[in-house]
Amino acid sequence: MRFSYLAAALLEASVAFAAPSQESHALEERSSSRPKHPAHPFHPGHHFPDSPKRTKTCTVKTHGKGKDDSNYILEAIKKCNNGGRVVFSKKTTYVVATALDLTFLKHVDLDIQGTIKFSNDTDYWQKNAFKQIYQNATTFFQLGGTDVNVYGGGTLDGNGQVWYDLYAKDIYILRPILFGTIGLHGGVISDIKLRYSPQWYNFVANSTNVVFSNIDIEGDSINANPAKNTDGWDTYRSSNIVIQNSHINNGDDCVSFKPNSTDIVVQNLICNGSHGISVGSLGQYKGQVDIVKNVYVYNISMSNASDGARIKVWPGISSAFSGDLQGGGGLGQVSNITYDTMQVSNVDYAVEITQCYGQKNLTLCNQYPSSLVIKDVVIKHFRGTTSKKYDPIVGYLVCSSPSVCSNILIEDVVVTSPKGMNSWTCGNVPGASGMVNCTTST
Ligand SMILES: *[C@@H]1O[C@H](CO)[C@@H](O)[C@H](O)[C@H]1NC(C)=O
Ligand SMILES: *[C@@H]1O[C@H](CO)[C@@H](O)[C@H](O)[C@H]1NC(C)=O
Ligand SMILES: *[C@@H]1O[C@H](CO)[C@@H](O)[C@H](O)[C@H]1NC(C)=O
Ligand SMILES: *[C@@H]1O[C@H](CO)[C@@H](O)[C@H](O)[C@H]1NC(C)=O
Ligand SMILES: *[C@@H]1O[C@H](CO)[C@@H](O)[C@H](O)[C@H]1NC(C)=O
Ligand SMILES: *[C@@H]1O[C@H](CO)[C@@H](O)[C@H](O)[C@H]1NC(C)=O
Ligand SMILES: *[C@@H]1O[C@H](CO)[C@@H](O)[C@H](O)[C@H]1NC(C)=O
Ligand SMILES: *[C@@H]1O[C@H](CO)[C@@H](O)[C@H](O)[C@H]1NC(C)=O
Ligand SMILES: *[C@@H]1O[C@H](CO)[C@@H](O)[C@H](O)[C@H]1NC(C)=O
Ligand SMILES: *[C@@H]1O[C@H](CO)[C@@H](O)[C@H](O)[C@H]1NC(C)=O
Repeated sequence: MRFSYLAAALLEASVAFAAPSQESHALEERSSSRPKHPAHPFHPGHHFPDSPKRTKTCTVKTHGKGKDDSNYILEAIKKCNNGGRVVFSKKTTYVVATALDLTFLKHVDLDIQGTIKFSNDTDYWQKNAFKQIYQNATTFFQLGGTDVNVYGGGTLDGNGQVWYDLYAKDIYILRPILFGTIGLHGGVISDIKLRYSPQWYNFVANSTNVVFSNIDIEGDSINANPAKNTDGWDTYRSSNIVIQNSHINNGDDCVSFKPNSTDIVVQNLICNGSHGISVGSLGQYKGQVDIVKNVYVYNISMSNASDGARIKVWPGISSAFSGDLQGGGGLGQVSNITYDTMQVSNVDYAVEITQCYGQKNLTLCNQYPSSLVIKDVVIKHFRGTTSKKYDPIVGYLVCSSPSVCSNILIEDVVVTSPKGMNSWTCGNVPGASGMVNCTTST
């Protein structure tokens, strides 16, 4: 909540700077000018393409009375594609009850000032949401193409409660992801609120050169059926991606780097209630090669979470973690990963590295070391306190063999448990005892 006020204040401020002496002009500007969100302070290293000014505007109509507005949305987008701006009006709720394939977008802005609410027809969405194959993921819509900006201060509402309730009865239902960025090359997604996603909030796949900035994520179940797997972002087969200046209140990974996520910067996030900023899980699919490299995670506030920094890799042998989560035996590499500056509060582990994900039998895990190598990892400048859960342990560094884990550096991590201790569990991580207090070993 606090963040929304801050965002509103910043928006106000930027408008004021744009037109300091012309108030009426400033009001108009607020609804029509594209906000600027450069990658800052870190940048993944590749140039982000320019996005030319849009020259026409199309306003999306609405049927009202809870009727499906998809036809109006498609109509406006088609009309304004190739150089225009599509406006979803303020104080208006648009209902989407049809899966929208928006992968044809080109040089277009979606100025979402109102609310877009996805219908609660779970049968329809299970049949028609876009299948993204990886981990059985499906999305309400898929947004892709080239040079697309999304902004406006509005809301996308996934109507999650019906899904949380259904999932409690059947874990095999396919719950759509709220925001599917699929095959997008060049774009800034900013200044929107994402609410009540049925599962992950963002899936970014087959995409390059995309910045996410000032995204506000929140939504929980109102009853005992939990909102499960509500990751903030999952990146997959994507490169040159920035996720920054956002507030995430969720119940699973705040950000997760799935297979083939490269050249990624995540910075200035406030995460609450999550499973941390996670590499993986990787190596889930036998024989497949998963690569995650060149990732910089900077200035994260992590509260009420299972982890701060986390790298999770499946062992070299397949196993079943639970009915809908099983795997192991994959190949590949995690390399050049930096976690720089994190403030933790009430997190179970400040740092967790495992190559035995999904396997409770460590003996078995060490017998079949992971075929997915972890190397060149820097974790530095962490402060704060952990939760009671593993007190006095504050961190967990366990690989399946020293031969598949190298150059892992822990530096200036000053984190204590509620009892004031700073013990770590270490196993098969070369040099660990020189960097942290390894009091338990596996
Ligand atoms: C689904 O939404 C409709 C309105 O669009 C509402 O009448 C109905 O009660 C909702 N069903 C559930 C299960 O929430
Ligand atoms: C990404 O691109 C590949 C290759 O074109 C395609 O097979 C796949 O379905 C696309 N989508 C995702 C989510 O991987
Ligand atoms: C995908 O769904 C199938 C069928 O429900 C299930 O057997 C499998 O475990 C699921 N896979 C994943 C990775 O969730
Ligand atoms: C760190 O992120 C917070 C928002 O979570 C922001 O207020 C602060 O300015 C950032 N600090 C730096 C040094 O970038
Ligand atoms: C953090 O999450 C907890 C629930 O897990 C909630 O009670 C609290 O209000 C959240 N904090 C903020 C600042 O939103
Ligand atoms: C990931 O990249 C590796 C190496 O280029 C490739 O072998 C593998 O098929 C890719 N995986 C996916 C899911 O795209
Ligand atoms: C490591 O990743 C950072 C970005 O996080 C990048 O700037 C740097 O060039 C990468 N190093 C190598 C050797 O690729
Ligand atoms: C952590 O959760 C508690 C309650 O569960 C809440 O009071 C607190 O505000 C949360 N911390 C942050 C920083 O959100
Ligand atoms: C764990 O794995 C080892 C080695 O394969 C095996 O001997 C042992 O029985 C397993 N323990 C359990 C509890 O399954
Ligand atoms: C290990 O613990 C001792 C005693 O609590 C402390 O003095 C020392 O700084 C710790 N070392 C590290 C690397 O945290």
